[in-house]
Amino acid sequence: MGNPQSIWFNPEKNIVEAIDQRLLPFEHVTIVIGTLQEARNAISEMVVRGAPLIGVTAAYGMYLAARSYVGNNLMAEMNWAGEWLKSSRPTAVNLAFAVDEALTVISDQHTDSENIQLLYEYAETLKKREIDFSKKIGLFGLELIKAISERNGNQPVQILTHCNAGRLACVELGTATAPIYLAHEAGILVHVWVDETRPRNQGARLTAWELGEAGIPHTVIPDNAGGHLMQHQMVDMVIVGSDRTTLNGDVANKIGTYLKALAAFDNDIPFYVALPSTTIDWNLRDGILEIPIEQRDGGEVSMMEGIVDNEVRQFRIIPERSAVANYGFDVTPARLVTALITEKGVCEATREGILSLFPERRPINE
Ligand code: MRU
Repeated sequence: MGNPQSIWFNPEKNIVEAIDQRLLPFEHVTIVIGTLQEARNAISEMVVRGAPLIGVTAAYGMYLAARSYVGNNLMAEMNWAGEWLKSSRPTAVNLAFAVDEALTVISDQHTDSENIQLLYEYAETLKKREIDFSKKIGLFGLELIKAISERNGNQPVQILTHCNAGRLACVELGTATAPIYLAHEAGILVHVWVDETRPRNQGARLTAWELGEAGIPHTVIPDNAGGHLMQHQMVDMVIVGSDRTTLNGDVANKIGTYLKALAAFDNDIPFYVALPSTTIDWNLRDGILEIPIEQRDGGEVSMMEGIVDNEVRQFRIIPERSAVANYGFDVTPARLVTALITEKGVCEATREGILSLFPERRPINE
């Protein structure tokens, strides 16, 4: 499997390295992130992607930025660097969270080299925290899979997932995939329906690759197939990740998630969202009105990429003059979410459900 992490600091070369996710599954290449600009490009070009990984990359980006500002008004430049990083992708709240938290660890009471060291330590701490959260999400989600397996007489639990909320989107294990990995390790039979996730095909390219590496049975399906499978009792549960979850439980995730939630609701199939608390936006109440939805280049819709005769090629799939729209995410309203799986446990997708796991977040005047 190579390095089990999706991003790491290489102390010998004194740089950050990451898997270039644009090239998988055709090529497994490591990319160097050595400057603030390279960190920002890696996020906006989706070399790295997935909410927790975007956050960790931003934290490393802040560290790399500070290294370039030694003796050059570091504190003031860091605010600018943070804003610039934040503008690279708007939907995943982990990005803003990581930048804002990084800014709290530095101060003009420290020397430049102390601030640089503090930012490095923050990036490493955030990375470890995300790994720990993934493990805990995995353990809580494992109980849900176990219960279905027992109810089904140990028949393979049929799980549908959308996009890639796996180790590539995080650092290790993933969010939506963590319970699946742990179930597989525990000897519980699982089979995963993997939505291809147009337009960038994170499901077909990344989730399928990850599950294949782990030896987990899976089948890639077109995005439109989920409803049919659910109507025919071929799905026991849906687990997806999140890019931003509001305090009332609305969930922004990869475009198409909402349609799966509607189909699951109509067919009485549990729809779970696995997320670390770093993905909760404590300031927002109404996801549909308030979560910024990224719109990306239309070329991602009009072109596709594949491998032909061992050569990776891109080809156009629509008429040259047709307009395209490319919304990156949609919002699933809380009422369609059976439960949230977090590092603190499983809760209802409601304000009270979330605050029952994170009581320290309850406003003091309540
Ligand atoms: O555009 P992407 O690939 O960054 O979108 C990723 C997703 O939507 C994931 O499902 C989400 O970030 C959860 S990742 C643990």
